[in-house]
Amino acid sequence: MRIAVFASHGGSLLQAIIDACASNSPSVEIVLVVSNNSKSKALSRAAKNNISTMHLSSSTHPQEAALDGAILEQLVSANVEWVILAGYMKKLGPLTLSKYRNHIINTHPALLPKYGGEGYYGSKVHAAVLAAGEKETGATIHLVEAEYDSGPILSQVRVPVKPGDTIESLEHRVKNAERNLLVATLTELSHRRKAG
Ligand code: GRF
Repeated sequence: MRIAVFASHGGSLLQAIIDACASNSPSVEIVLVVSNNSKSKALSRAAKNNISTMHLSSSTHPQEAALDGAILEQLVSANVEWVILAGYMKKLGPLTLSKYRNHIINTHPALLPKYGGEGYYGSKVHAAVLAAGEKETGATIHLVEAEYDSGPILSQVRVPVKPGDTIESLEHRVKNAERNLLVATLTELSHRRKAG
């Protein structure tokens, strides 16, 4: 299964996929890593593993439609089958969404539909979970539709909120669970593809 991973910052989720592909999920191949942030650690992690990278953003393509077209062109020319949004902070454009309909997944660090949508990203999600006094949170992987964090849910993992948790401690626990969930979900998708 040929995948492209989109990431904006640290790329720890990307790293989990790279590691899994190298060991237990050889049927998943990362053929392209895209970032809107030229300084993203995700791009250097990919390069270190000889994976093609592209920086595509409003600075490379100021017009939204041109950016959408450029992203789609890269995906198609690399024969990408699935697009994985792993900490990607931008929306995809209509051309890419339509061509890859039902073949784009996003990972979100909360139990959607709670704590999702515009404004809920990164540590803001965990801050909101703590402020609400939740006893549990988690991570969700879902198919991507036009709005942030919308689309059918494929998998979820529950993570306890512990007394004394800080934003950082909670984020760390959720990210660990999220990495495992993402790798397990990709493996499952690749098996389904083989079977189907
Ligand atoms: C993940 O928790 C993801 O759900 C969120 O940002 C984090 C990505 O971290 N949107 P990293 O860049 O993979 O380290």
